[in-house]
Amino acid sequence: MNEYILVCVAWPYAKSSTHVGQIVGAYLPADTFARYHRMAGNHVLMVSGSDEHGTPILVDAERQGISPREFVARYHREICEVWQRLGMSWDIYTETGTPNHYRITQDFFLTLYDKGYIFKDTMESPYCPTDRRFLPDRYIEGTCPNCGYPAARGDQCDNCGHTLDPIDLIDPKCRLCGSKTSKLEIRTTEHFFLDLPKLQEPLMEWLSKEKDHWRANTLSFALNWLKEGLHPRAITRDLDWGVPIPLEGYEDKRIYVWFDAVIGYFSASVEWAEKQGTPEAWKTWWVPEQTLPAVKSYYFIGKDNIPFHTIIWPSMLIGYGNRSLPYDVPANEFMTMSGAKASSSRGNVIWTRDILDRYGADALRYYLSATAPEGRDSDFTFEELIRRNNDELVATYGNAVHRTLSFLQSKFDGVVPKPQALREGDREILAKVEAGFGLVGHNIALCHFKDGLSAAMAVAHAANRYLDEQAPWKQIKTDHEAASTTLYVMLQVISGLHILFYPYLPFSSQKLHHYLGFEGDVSNAHWRLERVPADIKLPMPTPLFPKLEEPVTV
Ligand code: MF3
Ligand code: ZN
Repeated sequence: MNEYILVCVAWPYAKSSTHVGQIVGAYLPADTFARYHRMAGNHVLMVSGSDEHGTPILVDAERQGISPREFVARYHREICEVWQRLGMSWDIYTETGTPNHYRITQDFFLTLYDKGYIFKDTMESPYCPTDRRFLPDRYIEGTCPNCGYPAARGDQCDNCGHTLDPIDLIDPKCRLCGSKTSKLEIRTTEHFFLDLPKLQEPLMEWLSKEKDHWRANTLSFALNWLKEGLHPRAITRDLDWGVPIPLEGYEDKRIYVWFDAVIGYFSASVEWAEKQGTPEAWKTWWVPEQTLPAVKSYYFIGKDNIPFHTIIWPSMLIGYGNRSLPYDVPANEFMTMSGAKASSSRGNVIWTRDILDRYGADALRYYLSATAPEGRDSDFTFEELIRRNNDELVATYGNAVHRTLSFLQSKFDGVVPKPQALREGDREILAKVEAGFGLVGHNIALCHFKDGLSAAMAVAHAANRYLDEQAPWKQIKTDHEAASTTLYVMLQVISGLHILFYPYLPFSSQKLHHYLGFEGDVSNAHWRLERVPADIKLPMPTPLFPKLEEPVTV
């Protein structure tokens, strides 16, 4: 039976271009997953968008002297460009700045408020008398009470990673004026709070149901958080950038960025339904028991986002009512950059667009999929990217393909030969390809992307061995029909490979699709061996993958 697979992918902040840590953490696995499921005949909806609110964006826009609207528009455009070049097959990629998203966020807020899951309270917050404003999160800087780092921000210390309460900072300063003329004050301000303790029990019930398919780290993280007991969380800020609070008297406050961002998964689905002319279609994906089998929603995120996707968003969905909860949250660990944590202040961030310029999409997709931080951290190096491209993509997969296609051109004039009765070796390699569909597909469906890719590469290895054993360049001298059969079988094998690698390497699969004489878009193919018929003439090939030279430092 065809499944319904909702692919939700973390929303990147529209405050910089994307870097490879984000790609390997969330976007690439999500795209591989979505491509596989579509090809396997399942219904897929893949959604995300740019996260445009929050104080860091406001602070950066102010610093550049442009409006936050202009600021996020610039980065949203830039992010979208990278998606296209990387081959992200979104069903919708939107942004949190749309009227649709505002409307739906406000509806979530009001519904939770009316149902008693959001309450009003006062809190103490730092206030700058010079700028005459409250200083939420990153507007304030001071010494970390935990590690002594002098430039800790109001919400978090970048040095020790502890989340902070701004009023605990030692020697706090306003980031706008530097607090040169007056000292900061602590003033009372009114805010709205998500009543997480009220949702603790249903949340525990949900997390305790069968979760064997979750990654161990993600599940234990969420359970530990719950066991410590949930506290109410402020979901509004003293700011004028973000979704307005839909109640009178709070015009100078906005909804907290994380509260609105997670709602994006839902609002984007509504926008998608509207745009394709079936405004009710979002219900398929979000209202429980609308489909058989039930929708499985997957959330592809990096590990820093685990609490928001395993605790906060599920409790919002439970509180709202009649909305499907996450089926899996395949969070990735971190990828370090040549042994160091990626950080823009250390200058070792690797921008996706730079790598795309230098190496192209599939070389990057291959390397990142092969070294993904699934279950444990991994490390990015240019040397490894180049080595794996040359040893695996070029020398294994590319080699099997190119030897076959160029031999066909030189000895058969590009025309697919008719096979004789299949020999044992022929049947064996074809059986390996057939088995590959089960193995690769099964691993991808379990979010074991590295294992899926190795399984595909193992078929490419076997293909080269088969070709070496048959040696059609020798067969052709003594037994033309044997060579014909070998070539025919190899064409079927590489046809299988182009589908097996498709979720990971869509661009080279498209190229190979064409070289094998198939018309149109490879994404319309099915997850199975597509036979290349005898007697058709295939076009002249070029190598699928270029050999890469010496590492260049970006
Ligand atoms: N913008 C956040 C980040 O980059 C992620 C938001 S994910 C969502 O860490 F759930 F809020 F959408
Ligand atoms: Zn100030």
